[in-house]
Amino acid sequence: MRKLLIGLGILVLLLAAIPLGLMATGTISSSSLRMILNVMTGLAGPSTSKDTVQQRYQVPDGFQLQLYADKLPRARFLLVSPEGDLLVSRPHSGDIMLLRRDANGDGHPDAVETLLKDLKRPLGLALAEGWLYVAESNRIGRIAFDGDRGATLGQYQPVIEGLTDNGNHWSKTIHFGPDGLLYLAQGSTCNICEEEDARRATMMRFQPNGSGGEIIATGLRNSVGFDWTPWDGALYATDNGRDMLGDDFPPCELNRIDQGKFYGWPYFNGDNLADPDMGADPLATQRQPTAPAHGFRAHNAPLGIRFIDGTGMPDDYQKTALVALHGSWNRSTPDGYKVVSLHWQGDTVEERDFLTGFNRDGDIIGRPVDVAQGPDGAIYVSDDYAGAIYRISYGAADNDGAGQIPLLDIPGKTDSRLDVAPPEWLSDADLPAMAAKGSALYRRYACGACHEQGQNPVDLSKLSERLGYAAVIEVLRAPQSPMPVFPLSDSERRNLAVYLLNADAAADN
Ligand code: HEC
Repeated sequence: MRKLLIGLGILVLLLAAIPLGLMATGTISSSSLRMILNVMTGLAGPSTSKDTVQQRYQVPDGFQLQLYADKLPRARFLLVSPEGDLLVSRPHSGDIMLLRRDANGDGHPDAVETLLKDLKRPLGLALAEGWLYVAESNRIGRIAFDGDRGATLGQYQPVIEGLTDNGNHWSKTIHFGPDGLLYLAQGSTCNICEEEDARRATMMRFQPNGSGGEIIATGLRNSVGFDWTPWDGALYATDNGRDMLGDDFPPCELNRIDQGKFYGWPYFNGDNLADPDMGADPLATQRQPTAPAHGFRAHNAPLGIRFIDGTGMPDDYQKTALVALHGSWNRSTPDGYKVVSLHWQGDTVEERDFLTGFNRDGDIIGRPVDVAQGPDGAIYVSDDYAGAIYRISYGAADNDGAGQIPLLDIPGKTDSRLDVAPPEWLSDADLPAMAAKGSALYRRYACGACHEQGQNPVDLSKLSERLGYAAVIEVLRAPQSPMPVFPLSDSERRNLAVYLLNADAAADN
């Protein structure tokens, strides 16, 4: 049995090597690889000064941008409490941070605290009836939350258990609908395949206590963000299109989610074009794919979406959603890397730039993930690359003076480093042998195909300025798509971390 499993593992790796080979042989251009490296190491980014930020980041006329908080590595999803506290999930460190409302008006949270920790890759956050709900990768839990004090009460308790989190799109997103029910979106395990767990690549709905789960929509490859229109309560979800079909196909999607509908994946892309790798849909007689309501450019990776309350904003922001485009990796020139506004005019949706500057000609200094709006109308955007939260408000300086706060320096990649102190399990004596094993693993799994395209180990070398041991091990255990999941043991992950985090010392000498 064990031999069979090893054999299967090798087969999977051989299959995975085909796209990697394409990348190595130039089917995906070197500027794409350089961009991936930029994204991962920050090697090509200039050190970001206050001037750089003022020159680079742009919002539409009348809006003001400020850096609200920094030093929050890998900040992902956002939730603003009715009292104005900002909750931030960080799947890779397993915690939920609480950024206390800016009561003193200095344009920054009054305090930054860890609200919950030791969770399993938490992403989605929701508040209802005094409960804070957290979507871990394998379960949904809740804990009583006192909004006035911005504090949890009592014990954290699971309400939905037994969710699968294998494969690439392990994160889970939750929100409460206007019907008072708990909605859950789960991504696919893979780029393109048939799922074994029927709940993957779907939207589900539960009672607030976790009972009565039902699948309401299928064929959603990875709908990381969803929200309801304030004007007619329709549910819209972003969806990330598949990879490996070239620069400009297929589009990423915005889907209007209706009960019982099928949104195409893995058999159809974009406007219901048959997928070249999958053949005919075996359930074609029972279901027809629903076309997207809007197409984002291919590989833009739309994540969080939020319909905003446009009170006090210009007329064309009255029926508007903001969407964070995390940015492409599988494309010869990087694309996305911005927040866009979607404007509904009747049935048509117009896309416009809202917050830009993360990418300038392939020089990437940030990646937006989620959007939220506070009770005062301020809009918050998370950035998991710079480890930052931005605040955008409309109009001249408001009474609390927040609009006058100058932009701070965006934290450089070095500022958002995690703890790189050697962990307990790493002794000086063991380091060379572990690094050597890590180096061998790096070559065996052809990590360089994506990380450097070649034999030069300098490319991931500046990693130690961004990530500590625990974080690297977590990346290897649960990689962010499109990095594949490798069948590594705990000790192999440690060896790779030792190698990656010490390679720069070796190379610089
Ligand atoms: C198919 C391409 C691909 C392969 C193969 C691959 N990676 Fe990655 N890796 C990526 C991408 C893309 C990211 C960035 C993901 C994201 O957007 O957060 C990444 C992220 C990482 C990170 C986190 C970097 C950071 O700054 O957050 C580490 C560490 C890493 N990879 C190590 C490895 C190792 C070790 C291997 C081999 C065992 C490997 N990767 C194989 C594509 C790949």
